[in-house]
Amino acid sequence: MARYEIVGGSTLEGNVTISGAKNAAVAILPAAILVEGKCRIENVPDISDVRILLDILADMGVQVEQPEPNVVILDSTTVSNPRPRGDLVRKMRASYYFMGSLLGRFGKAHVDLPGGCNFAARPIDQHIKGFLALGADVEETEEYVSMTPGEEGIHAARISLDMASVGATANLMIAAALIPGQTFIENAAKEPHIVDLANFLNTMGAHIYGAGTDTIKIRGVEKLTGGTYAIIPDQIEAGTYLAAVAAAGGNVLVQNVIPKHLECITSKLAEMGAKITEYDDAVRIQRTGRMRRTTVKTRPYPGFPTDMQAQVCVCMALASGVSRLTESVYETRFFGYCTELESMGANIQISGKTATVVGVENLYGATVSAHDLRAGAALVIAGLAAQGTTQVENIHFVERGYENLIEKLTGLGANIRRVED
Ligand code: EPU
Repeated sequence: MARYEIVGGSTLEGNVTISGAKNAAVAILPAAILVEGKCRIENVPDISDVRILLDILADMGVQVEQPEPNVVILDSTTVSNPRPRGDLVRKMRASYYFMGSLLGRFGKAHVDLPGGCNFAARPIDQHIKGFLALGADVEETEEYVSMTPGEEGIHAARISLDMASVGATANLMIAAALIPGQTFIENAAKEPHIVDLANFLNTMGAHIYGAGTDTIKIRGVEKLTGGTYAIIPDQIEAGTYLAAVAAAGGNVLVQNVIPKHLECITSKLAEMGAKITEYDDAVRIQRTGRMRRTTVKTRPYPGFPTDMQAQVCVCMALASGVSRLTESVYETRFFGYCTELESMGANIQISGKTATVVGVENLYGATVSAHDLRAGAALVIAGLAAQGTTQVENIHFVERGYENLIEKLTGLGANIRRVED
């Protein structure tokens, strides 16, 4: 078992370069099944979720090349085995995107139910509702989802989602790209990675309009034929480094970002007392004095992201005054890390969807365990800001989503190392 050992207390100084967006990459790679031709995808983060997807694709007969770091060339022309390997599918959440890509390309799909971070129930009923509307007969068991064409065949449809689900929006956009006619997704998610997926598919030859708004229109095309695409920078990775500086103090230029995507995060950190300076593709954060209390409510984009809830909670834990943090996407997310933060000296009371965080002067090193990806990132931040030594266990969760975390943090002067027991 590997763990991170962090000696806290140093401020963070220097530059850090943000990698490609995990949640865009994990949709774009399965979507490449639709493309009959070579697609070159750049700025692909080297994280374990991506490595699993590449293994699944290779096992299905997709030609996978990695000519240089962070570049993947996929050719799905000759998919010989359109059934993603169950043991790999169950290792991660985003493998549900194979449902959309296989339905779109072959008109049928058989995909095991995904695994991944289990911080909430995470149903996929909206994905299924959409596949049914697209004409699929769906068999859903506790182990898999299997789809075949229904009586009227697979066809375009107008789908109104009950909630703006990122996964359902992306899955249905992928499925509909090759379905003749016009499909509409209403109450669609608007996250940056939804727009990125649409841009990728359009670069490959799809006709998708309105991504980033409530309604996405997809005019099905006969074929996607390939091209070159670069994935956007990771909003949440950038937010995590910003929160780390806010918690530990220092002065860092976070490079290769789209500042607009970070406004929901930087505006809160500024309100708490950090100095934020935006450039064209970078954001500088400086934090010297103590942070001040604030109120945060997580919401779908452009609101404050649920994937930054745990990281901002660490900032609140060290701020002066009493902060309030309300989760409106995944209610049970607090349970992944609040108890661990309390063992480091934080004062947090949870009541339903809201955590009341009474700021303390210091956190103290302890042995803590990551229960999911973002919870793990928050514990790393807490370790950096704490006095003494922190051991973060279960780091495979963190490695699913943060490229070169140790190298990037040590580059900023942090004292962190990965230890294999
Ligand atoms: N929901 C349903 N039914 C569905 C789909 C969603 O009830 O069919 C509910 C969920 O339970 C949740 C809300 O709708 O309460 C939003 O879920 P969404 O579908 O948007 O989430 P997701 O697609 O499962 C993605 C990210 C998550 C991120 C959420 C919210 C990927 C692979 N995952 O999950 O990222 O938290 O959107 O932004 O894109 C992470 O990166 O650490 C992570 C967990």
